Order: sequence, then C-alpha cells, then structure tokens
Amino acid sequence: MGIDENLLRPKGGAEKINEDGSTRRDFLTLTASCVAAAGAAVVGVPFVSSLNPDQGVLAVGSTEVNVKNIQEGHTLTTTWRGKPVFIRHRTKAEIESARSVDVTTLRDPEKDEDRVKGGKEEWLVAVGVCTHLGCVPISGKGEFGGWFCPCHGSHYDTSGRIRKGPAPKNLQVPDYTFINDDTIKIG
Ligand code: FES
Repeated sequence: MGIDENLLRPKGGAEKINEDGSTRRDFLTLTASCVAAAGAAVVGVPFVSSLNPDQGVLAVGSTEVNVKNIQEGHTLTTTWRGKPVFIRHRTKAEIESARSVDVTTLRDPEKDEDRVKGGKEEWLVAVGVCTHLGCVPISGKGEFGGWFCPCHGSHYDTSGRIRKGPAPKNLQVPDYTFINDDTIKIG
C-alpha cells in the first residue's frame, strides 16, 4: 500500500516537505547564511589588509639601489628618508688615499675600514648632508678628493671624513647591506 500524498501536503500554514526532508525555510536559512558569509569575506579582506604595513611606509623606511652601472670614480646620489645619499664607486687610489691617513690626526677619528663593508671597500655609502649646517656637498671636489661643501668650505675625504672647514663630524654612514653584488639596500 502506497503513502497517502495528502499527508505530505502543507495544511493550515504547515511547510511543504521536500523529498529529501528539507523545507523552504531550511532553504531560505541556508541562502541567508551563504550571503552573510560572503559579506564577511568581503569585509574581512580590507580589514586584514589594514593590519599589514602600508607599502608607502615600507618604501620610506628602506630603499634598494642598483649600483651595477656606477663606474669607478663616479658617485650616484639617491634619496633615503628624504635625504640625499651618496654611493661612490671608489678607485684603488681613492681607497689607498683614505687608508693612508693617520686616524689620530682626524677631527672625527674613524678608520676607513670601519666606514665600508669588508670585501666591498670600493663602495662608500654616506648621507649627503654636511654635518655643519646641512648643505649638500659636491662630489669629487675639495682638497681631499671626496666632497666639498660650498656653503662654508668644508672638505671631506674619499671616506667621507671631515678634513678641513667648520663641519664637526664625518658624513654619516647609514645602515645598509648588499642584497647581491649589484644591489644595495639602505635602511
Ligand atoms: S653647511 Fe657645509 S660647511 Fe657649512
């Protein structure tokens, strides 16, 4: 004997039961849940993204410079945190000149070896701001072959150390690393 279909029909507001036993209300509930989940996912993306450091902030904190095309004896000026930074590809003669100095005679005594990376002594990286009153020195000028600040006449050598004039300190060497042979990351 078959099932009486009248028993499966909705009566007096009762819900229709599908063959798999689900009802229209189940369907609506499931649909609403899916929409809510999708909405949460969409809202969640910008929220999670907002927890990551802004790319602009990262860019300001450090800068990568390709030095492959800087010829010996030339200086590239880049910027880092709003300041000029000199990257000089020193010649052998410039390195020897920097290392032949009696450090004890310097106003701001620092060995050249302590201002460059071991094995990469041909590269000098220095913030291009005169330590007197903040002018930008000129590369390859001055009495010591490094930089000359025209504002009040400070002379820096090929290690960026102050040698003559009113500046009290050597050009600052920023934190930097070689990412590979051709790329320097400053900051
Ligand atoms: S700012 Fe460079 S010598 Fe004065």
